[in-house]
Amino acid sequence: MQILKTVEELRRWSRAQRCEYAGGGIALVPTMGALHAGHASLIRAAAEARRGRVAVSIFVNPTQFGPNEDFARYPRTFKADCALAEREGATVIFAPSVEEMYPAGATTFVDVEGLSERLDGASRPGHFRGVATVVAKLLNAAEPDLAFFGQKDAAQVAVLRRMVDDLRLGAKIVVCPIVREGDGLALSSRNVYLSAEERKQALVLSHAVRRVESMVAGGERQSAALLEAARGVFAEEPTVRVDYIELVDWETLWAVLRAAPGTLCAVAAWVGKTRLIDNTILQ
Ligand code: PAJ
Repeated sequence: MQILKTVEELRRWSRAQRCEYAGGGIALVPTMGALHAGHASLIRAAAEARRGRVAVSIFVNPTQFGPNEDFARYPRTFKADCALAEREGATVIFAPSVEEMYPAGATTFVDVEGLSERLDGASRPGHFRGVATVVAKLLNAAEPDLAFFGQKDAAQVAVLRRMVDDLRLGAKIVVCPIVREGDGLALSSRNVYLSAEERKQALVLSHAVRRVESMVAGGERQSAALLEAARGVFAEEPTVRVDYIELVDWETLWAVLRAAPGTLCAVAAWVGKTRLIDNTILQ
């Protein structure tokens, strides 16, 4: 497995693959590293679709972190990440420097207006601008026909779908299901921040999401009732501070009054100093 450091190298690799496999595309799996079983599931899916032509990017993107967020202490486990990526079927790792992705004096950003201010964008101003900008750069460099993302970051998926469509980037976005621990906690690179006590408290996110799912299965459709039930679950864990609990259209991220198939139920909360998210797409 090769490790590529520059945009030029990645572009050259991608173009060579496409020449060699006439008509076949390549798959890109963008990550910030600290890879876990959630990331592994994306790489595996990419390898199933484009075996031998899978690029995994590992780049802790500074522009998607706010000034008081965890950019400096974000877990960096590059060696282990490479081993995991190779095991799951990655062909190359793209691990650029910050200067490679953001040349000195860079002032160009991608703003997905409207969507970027909703859900996580409301409490993390500028976050989705950073995500959209770096993913646009990665797609432009790798020129994949398939790009793999996790439903875990459902608002991110909505922002990126809009961006890919608006900019006619040509890649198809493939969304993979949320990988969870045995007790339901969604895997996240940030789970390593949790103390043993917080780890237990963090279950409230998946419990709230499950409560909404089971109420919908029981026939409840009114958002007000579903959101109140979810708030009730959070109230049982008062040390956890809710950021948002929302029922939204997954494409526009606008709140809906009634849940329908495909409605996104998303939650975000602070467990101690760690902000976690979870969601479900209602059936
Ligand atoms: P990161 O948090 O490293 O996540 C990389 C990809 O893995 C995302 O598409 C995310 O949704 C997916 N993922 C994370 N946890 C998952 C889980 N438990 N189950 C399934 N998929 C999961 O998301 C980012 O990085 C960045 O914003 C990025 C898109 C790379 C841009 O910098």
